[in-house]
Amino acid sequence: MSDKIRFPSNFLWGVAYSSHQVEGKNINNDWWEWEQKGKTKDKSGEACDSWNRYQEDHQLAQDLGCGGFRLSLEWSRIEPREKNFSSKAIKHYREVLEDIKKRGMKRVVTLWHWSLPIWLVKKYSGWQRREIAFLFENYCQKVLDELGDEIDIFITMNEPMVPLNNGYLTAKFPPGKKNPLLYWQARKNMILAHQKCYQLIKKRRNELPVGITTLYVFFEPQSIWWKWLVKKIENWYNHSILEKIRNQQDFVGIDYYFHSRIGFKFSSPFFICNENKKVSDLGWEIFPQGIYEVAKDAWKRYQKPIYIFENGLADKEDKYRSKFIQDHLIWLGKAIQEGIKIKGYFHWSLIDNFEWTQGFEPCFGLCEMDYSTMKRKPRPSYFYYQEIIKNNGILK
Ligand code: BGC
Repeated sequence: MSDKIRFPSNFLWGVAYSSHQVEGKNINNDWWEWEQKGKTKDKSGEACDSWNRYQEDHQLAQDLGCGGFRLSLEWSRIEPREKNFSSKAIKHYREVLEDIKKRGMKRVVTLWHWSLPIWLVKKYSGWQRREIAFLFENYCQKVLDELGDEIDIFITMNEPMVPLNNGYLTAKFPPGKKNPLLYWQARKNMILAHQKCYQLIKKRRNELPVGITTLYVFFEPQSIWWKWLVKKIENWYNHSILEKIRNQQDFVGIDYYFHSRIGFKFSSPFFICNENKKVSDLGWEIFPQGIYEVAKDAWKRYQKPIYIFENGLADKEDKYRSKFIQDHLIWLGKAIQEGIKIKGYFHWSLIDNFEWTQGFEPCFGLCEMDYSTMKRKPRPSYFYYQEIIKNNGILK
């Protein structure tokens, strides 16, 4: 396969992060409470102080040459009490979004990236009760009223399967349940919440592209014997929600991190038997071909434009990141050459940040964070990505 790849002229290069992982002092959400209960390796605390330092982040993305910046809005800041919206927070986000625009970047906005306001959890128990779909719609309505004109691409929710599995089956995320019935209800309510928002947005601003992001895993059976079963797992994990919102999304938003080669044995229902030739600091296998496979699969199934809204790795020493980006983009370029409509690539993440239960140890940033001074320092891979963006491709 040739390693010289040119991307389409309007290809959207970007970076991504989320509110709770970078803003700092998000004291009014369920993750903050979860951290105080000692359920995470670190507490988010000041995080990257991006609430105050967002201009530095935007500057870094602008210098990188990005055409797009993905961020999320913090529901607990916008609506700190039920139906009580904070004009201060809304004004803040307006400034943030205007600043991104001023720098020539498109605003890709996620409405919900996992953290819920405390009042909502206390009074309505979060996703497990149907009321949340209406509260979510209400929040969406407010965002549209106040900030709608400052949003270029709208993601209602980030990777619903992840908080569902971890919040309702493994108990690693809030609300810390292991209850398939609640899982089922929460899932239904997430789907409903998205559908309601989609309709609302389309009524108000039909031209605004709307979708969700999916943690799109590349599943493979270890042997042909397991093909059928692995297909079932894949259909469930990657597609069961996407299928339900098939007619309520304008694009497929892919977050690609994982390859899972699955085998089965009698002692355990299934196990992952990746070769793991190269792994990130979190032990996640680096498997660039997977990005091609999932893009191909998404295109075949949904025939909608595709955005890669997250792709990256934990790599504190920046040993693999440049090569990781190069290899993933070579595979992505191949998909584009084959006619798959991929409209953009967003690297996760611009800066190191609060990695949920894992705290601050995993370093996903193109820029290194010094949390004692809050200084952001570009790693070599930042300059590598900059080169790619400048050339709109990989020349060598
Ligand atoms: C999430 C991010 C997270 C990243 C790396 C994605 O699934 O959207 O919030 O930091 O993975 O684990």
